[in-house]
Amino acid sequence: MKAGGQARNSTAGNETRSSFSSRLGYVLAVAGSAVGLGNIWRFPYLAAKYGGGIFLLVYLILMLTFGYALIMSETALGRMTRRSPVGAFQAFGKSWHFRLGGWVNAIIPMLIVPYYCVIGGWVTKYLFEYLRGSTIMLADDNYFHGFIAESFGAEFWFLLFSVAVVLVLLAGVKHGVERVSKVMMPLLVILAIFVAGYAMTRPGALEGVKYFLIPNFANFSWMTVVAAMGQMFFSLSIAMGILYTYGSYMKKDVDIEKSTFQVEAFDTGIAMLAGLMVIPAVFAFSGGDPDALKAGPSLMFITIPKVFASMGFGTGAGLMFFLLVFMAALTSAISLAESGVSTFEDQLGWSRKACTLLMGAIIIILGSASALGFGVLDFVAPLGMSLLDFFDFLTNSLMMPVAALSTCLLVTRVVGLKKITEEVELSSRFKQKQIYAFMIKYLAPIFIIIILLSSMASVLGWISM
Ligand code: TRP
Repeated sequence: MKAGGQARNSTAGNETRSSFSSRLGYVLAVAGSAVGLGNIWRFPYLAAKYGGGIFLLVYLILMLTFGYALIMSETALGRMTRRSPVGAFQAFGKSWHFRLGGWVNAIIPMLIVPYYCVIGGWVTKYLFEYLRGSTIMLADDNYFHGFIAESFGAEFWFLLFSVAVVLVLLAGVKHGVERVSKVMMPLLVILAIFVAGYAMTRPGALEGVKYFLIPNFANFSWMTVVAAMGQMFFSLSIAMGILYTYGSYMKKDVDIEKSTFQVEAFDTGIAMLAGLMVIPAVFAFSGGDPDALKAGPSLMFITIPKVFASMGFGTGAGLMFFLLVFMAALTSAISLAESGVSTFEDQLGWSRKACTLLMGAIIIILGSASALGFGVLDFVAPLGMSLLDFFDFLTNSLMMPVAALSTCLLVTRVVGLKKITEEVELSSRFKQKQIYAFMIKYLAPIFIIIILLSSMASVLGWISM
């Protein structure tokens, strides 16, 4: 009872749980948490690396089946219990299974936000360089690797970004930042359409458009599925407890199913736009070189500056682009950190300030490891990966499948489909009820287990990444 009771006056930090005022308000808030570096930075590099069109196809299928079922479940459970994940799980039982299920969900954002802030730091550095007009320098092939290998710089920009995140939380001006970012989001979409249009019309870029949009089964591997699934979790902010929390603020008359589709459509639209910005540019500026396609986390930072360097007003466009990405990254990092802070508040019962400082310490320790992992710490290579890739793999490919599985089990074994249906039908008819039931009962758990086994097999080196 105790943990649940504390969780009640949780995340909002006040006694009564506030709610989103309308469905639009809800969709905007969730879409705001969904759109971030995942769409602009992570999606294009994974799509480039894991097969282009075939990755996109697998991603779309997973999102419409799996992603849909999980978003529905997490939101409904959050709204039903009015609690964040640790509390929501314990609302149904007290044994260690429930504790574990809640905690796996709750810990994931705490492990993501440190490396998210490292990427945020890179974005800040690029923003600064565009301000100084270093457009040509940034477009150099070796610039980015030089920057991250030179540890002091990467650490400095990471710290700057992280301190901004912690200060916003301490000062309680989070909503102000979100409001600014909501205004900037549409601008980001417009600029991205423009840049994608420009990139796609460069000589040679059409090959990239084809590579990204047309599935080629020759490029398929198991890792395509593992990566697509991890990306779906990351981008839609599922399997990390976030949607329990959002659901807990949702009013009973909001149509859960409709808002789920809207969020998915919006999030995927932006990811595809980013793909069309980055991948054709790899073909236009690096001739579709397989090594360039496999660049991984650095891809955006290497190709996008080339696009800007080649166009008129490139410095202005680059400045604008990195400013908008910076805002998207900042708001996402704030929400991720906030979710950690509220878990600490609920579970440790400390003051908000102490919990924020604890989260800040975690960000700085784990984030510094990731930031320095390309420089002075590059000899630390768990599973042969850089530290940043390692944290990314640990959360997206190992922990999130476990978190998703615990939600499936909670729904099917404990809560029961009947209660979920009742919750969804409080506001509207549950149109995809049969499909939902099939997903959550059979397809999702079986699939998650296969994914988990393949991730482990790749860790052990049985299948290649
Ligand atoms: N979905 C976000 C992105 O694509 C990242 C993210 C994951 C997130 N979980 C979150 C953002 C929770 C805010 C809150 O970048």
